[in-house]
Amino acid sequence: MSAYFVTATGTDIGKTFVTAGLIRAARLGGLKTQALKPIVSGIDDANPAGSDPAVLLDALGETVTPETLARISPWRFAAPMSPDMAAAREERFIPYNELLETCRDAVHAARDGMLFIEGVGGVMVPLDARRTVLDWMADMRLPLILVAGSYLGTISHTLTAMEVVARARLKISALVINESEGATIPLEETLATLRRFAGVPIATIPRGGDMSAFAKLASLL
Ligand SMILES: Nc1ncnc2c1ncn2[C@@H]1O[C@H](COP(=O)(O)OP(=O)(O)O)[C@@H](O)[C@H]1O
Ligand SMILES: [Mg+2]
Repeated sequence: MSAYFVTATGTDIGKTFVTAGLIRAARLGGLKTQALKPIVSGIDDANPAGSDPAVLLDALGETVTPETLARISPWRFAAPMSPDMAAAREERFIPYNELLETCRDAVHAARDGMLFIEGVGGVMVPLDARRTVLDWMADMRLPLILVAGSYLGTISHTLTAMEVVARARLKISALVINESEGATIPLEETLATLRRFAGVPIATIPRGGDMSAFAKLASLL
């Protein structure tokens, strides 16, 4: 099985960017590749260009249509807020069991290929009144790709996120240090420090994310 759950230490860290790169690397390697971004907030269905599902569909070589959008991101909310809040604004909620079922169906369908499921926000963003992304990941039990930044402060955020997923007995297949915009700390120094503490395979993605960096990351999976 080659299905992975892509999570991050926070929002806007680079989950979609990294997932799109991994999709391209897998497709270049001739692998059948699928992706899901089940929950997306801050999306305008009438103008989805640049949204997470649009970026992932582009990497998959698919066009954005109402159908492909609904397939890759079944739960879409307009407000750019955490999913529980964004859903409440529309007097909706995320049907958790249906979310799990959709993800499990995708894992089953992708058993002869690659599947990347992008979470939402960081590892403990609320999905509803009592569940967070951590519950979702724990119920899926997929190996994780944890995306972290390279900004000042990332080491503590990353080790904190790792501690939380370890407590849920989840496996991190790859920790990705994705170079943050305007980062003042060399990627290599953050890598060296995290190597001492993290104890999982680590890859780095520089700004712009060249294909060789994504290929190296894909080789860890
Ligand atoms: N390594 C990178 N190089 C250039 N731009 C990046 C890189 N990583 C992320 N970005 C950009 O930063 C923004 C936030 O990244 P994104 O992948 O959408 O984060 P997330 O999915 O975790 O919220 C996007 O506009 C994305 O294109
Ligand atoms: Mg995203």
